[in-house]
Amino acid sequence: MRKGLVAQFPEPIPTFDLILPTVRNWLQTHTGSLNDLLSNEDDWLLVNRDLNGRVRLILPERFEESELCGRWDLLASRLMQCLGKHAYPQKTEILFEANREQALQGATSYLLDGFTKVWMVDRLATEANWARIEAETENVSRVVFFSIKGGVGRSTALAATAWRLAQDGKRVLVLDLDLESPGLSSALLPSERQPMYGITDWLIEDLVGNGDVVFESMVATSNLSHDGEIHVVPAHGADHGEYIAKLGRVWMPKLNEDGTRETWSSRLSRLLQNLEERIQPDVLLIDSRSGIDEIASACITELGANLILLFSLEGEQTWNGYRMLFEQWQRAGVAQQIRERLQVVGAIVPELDRVEYLAGLREHSYEVFVDTLYDEIAPIEVGEVDGAWRVGGLSEGWNFDEADETSPHHPWAVNWHRSFAGLLSLQGRLAAIDSQEVESVFGALINGVSNAVDGRDTA
Ligand SMILES: Nc1ncnc2c1ncn2[C@@H]1O[C@H](COP(=O)(O)OP(=O)(O)OP(=O)(O)O)[C@@H](O)[C@H]1O
Ligand SMILES: [Mg+2]
Repeated sequence: MRKGLVAQFPEPIPTFDLILPTVRNWLQTHTGSLNDLLSNEDDWLLVNRDLNGRVRLILPERFEESELCGRWDLLASRLMQCLGKHAYPQKTEILFEANREQALQGATSYLLDGFTKVWMVDRLATEANWARIEAETENVSRVVFFSIKGGVGRSTALAATAWRLAQDGKRVLVLDLDLESPGLSSALLPSERQPMYGITDWLIEDLVGNGDVVFESMVATSNLSHDGEIHVVPAHGADHGEYIAKLGRVWMPKLNEDGTRETWSSRLSRLLQNLEERIQPDVLLIDSRSGIDEIASACITELGANLILLFSLEGEQTWNGYRMLFEQWQRAGVAQQIRERLQVVGAIVPELDRVEYLAGLREHSYEVFVDTLYDEIAPIEVGEVDGAWRVGGLSEGWNFDEADETSPHHPWAVNWHRSFAGLLSLQGRLAAIDSQEVESVFGALINGVSNAVDGRDTA
């Protein structure tokens, strides 16, 4: 570059991903004014990102006619100026609402950095809510089988886990929530045992207050267990009926006669509770949908899961997917509520170069956990104390060594085995299986799940 010339970089044009940094910048610049304006104990401010990704502010009604309105207008316009096409036009930048709950209307929201009265609100076209984490259930252990990618042996591993837990004398309840690609129930039930209805039927009937009619006929027991019981609730019944027409409606919220609205995931929680009351299982195994999907979101964050298994194949797609998810939890400030329930599972670990494969899996898994969910390790300080050199500031908080076998990033391996590859009938395979075979393929996973369930029983 010639001397005296300054490089001209154009200002970045605001896109969706620049909204949050812009809002944060605005908050930092105007912290004093904002805290001053939000002086009442019950004041609040919502930074609302609507369905189209446009931003405006929502404030309590008390500001609408007040002399403070001008100051709010000025602050709002400062923010809007930086948001380009993601801003609301002048005069529509602020909405007023009676209270925060009314303004939220069930949308995802989280507090913004350091503020106790300023929330970011995200309206999504789906009801998926990755940022509202339900507390762990207290009674039955709920274990969710999830994967970013499909076809990684999740349902097979779930069926084998159910089989072993039942052999150990446990009462197991299995739910096929992979509604868009169901298959688990056929692995556990021969066709003559399939119940009349499934989860989809209940979700549809419940919308019109008819859930009880199908409730009694949506569970069947598997013929696979000798010493315990496996109760299976399939995605659909023996006769799937108009499955596609039903599937398109399962996400519907229920509008009750008293005007209240129940989201589909709350309806699902209610179903789980009723099933648990009726069947009294020791453990509930849930086959979730794969990918960052609406049903998966409900399974992972809203059903009070105690253990969430993250099936992983080595590869960028897996780790990018988990990174996106973990970052979302970090951003929404909920990572601490969920991270201790997570466990990586090495899906279908190949026979060839097994050790190297698992080492690579562990390394990449560790990278994602360190960057997103683990607490930062305080730098080690060396100083002189009483004439001797001491090491101080050792790590505190929630973090693990890469090699720590008890850590959530350390994969529980499910091994590839030719007898499970391209099976025509998993039901037939499981009916003829023995403990040793199950142990050699699924041992690490099953022991991990078993310990987690027993740990809760004795806690
Ligand atoms: N341990 C294993 N060894 C070899 N092949 C396996 C193993 N587990 C599963 N498979 C095979 O991999 C394929 C996918 O298995 P499965 O249906 O269990 O995966 P999934 O993750 O549930 O898939 P989807 O996302 O479609 O529900 C099947 O053909 C199955 O037989
Ligand atoms: Mg499956």
